[in-house]
Amino acid sequence: MKTILTERFGIEHPIFSAGMARVAQAELTAAVSNAGGMGCLGGVSYMPEALTAEIEKIESLTDKPYAINLLLPASLTTEDEEAWRPVRELWGRLSEEERGKMAGVEALLTKGAVADQVEIVLDAAPAAVTLTFAVPDWFMEECRKRDIATIALAGSVGKAREYAEAGVDFIVAQGTEAGGHTGYVTSMTLIPAVVDAVDVPVIAAGGIADGRGLASALSLGACGAWVGTRFIATPEAYGHDAFKQRVIDGRFQDTTITFSYSGKRMRAFSNDWTQQWESSGEDGASGFPAQYGVAGTRVETGYQDGDLTEGMMPVGQTLGLVHEMKPAGEVVRNMSAEADQIISALHERLR
Ligand SMILES: Cc1cc2nc3c(=O)[nH]c(=O)nc-3n(C[C@H](O)[C@H](O)[C@H](O)COP(=O)(O)O)c2cc1C
Repeated sequence: MKTILTERFGIEHPIFSAGMARVAQAELTAAVSNAGGMGCLGGVSYMPEALTAEIEKIESLTDKPYAINLLLPASLTTEDEEAWRPVRELWGRLSEEERGKMAGVEALLTKGAVADQVEIVLDAAPAAVTLTFAVPDWFMEECRKRDIATIALAGSVGKAREYAEAGVDFIVAQGTEAGGHTGYVTSMTLIPAVVDAVDVPVIAAGGIADGRGLASALSLGACGAWVGTRFIATPEAYGHDAFKQRVIDGRFQDTTITFSYSGKRMRAFSNDWTQQWESSGEDGASGFPAQYGVAGTRVETGYQDGDLTEGMMPVGQTLGLVHEMKPAGEVVRNMSAEADQIISALHERLR
């Protein structure tokens, strides 16, 4: 299956695994790349030394192209430091024990860590860097110099236009079905709208878990699929078995929209934590990014301790389509083969 995505990166299948913080570590990234897709490291959650080690691990597990996801501020100047000051003050007040459980967001809360992440990623020069929320000019410039492709994740037509103007190489158009930070519009509606609105190749995300999803994405004008939730239920993903099993057993109504984690709109498992938060009327009480300081420990409560009632676990609606644990490579190969069959069968049927 050849598209502009497979051609650009010399990969076999037009499938990206999403750069899920904590969940997408070296094992998952390498497994997807080794299967002929494009694995993406959830780089946001690493302190500098750990990020270097994780990149080395990926490179020891695969010689195929891979990507890294980052969450960057608009600038690394004093102006931005001002915006993050309350978060860092909060970090300063946390106990060692509390800090120990902040693995998912520690780098974001620690002064200088993001600048170090940037340096490490630019030095590693992965095939692509994927960005969420902001596409800063200073970073784009550095990527161009090193021939690192830039990919930005948009949940609306407006954001997609903004990223296109910034000169990204690909835009991920992500529908509301997706796990993690997400917008209001469904994939079926948003993907063709973004394809129409921008001149940049579009990768589809949100609600894709199998070959039917990939075939639909290609029909809507996308050049590939960006898949998160499906890859949680793989042995290579990081996370407690109880969390993975919950994805396999989950029903569509088990996800909710919550502002409790980052202060921005996010789809996650509905549980005691999200329900208490929402019923207390505290929607995103501290706003982005300060809210991370309130809820940052909740991620490891879910992923590491397997506490499904009090943990904060992003997950998408495809949990209603995921019924078994499968090696990540098999997910990639099956998705691609199934999409291929569907497209050929449609061609025959409609002839
Ligand atoms: C557990 C989890 C963690 C995520 N973490 C991140 C992240 O760190 N950065 C990011 O850009 N997107 C993150 N996302 C969103 C994914 O990148 C992706 O856009 C989304 O999962 C696609 O939709 P799907 O879940 O329906 O496949 C996360 C999603 C999940 C489910």
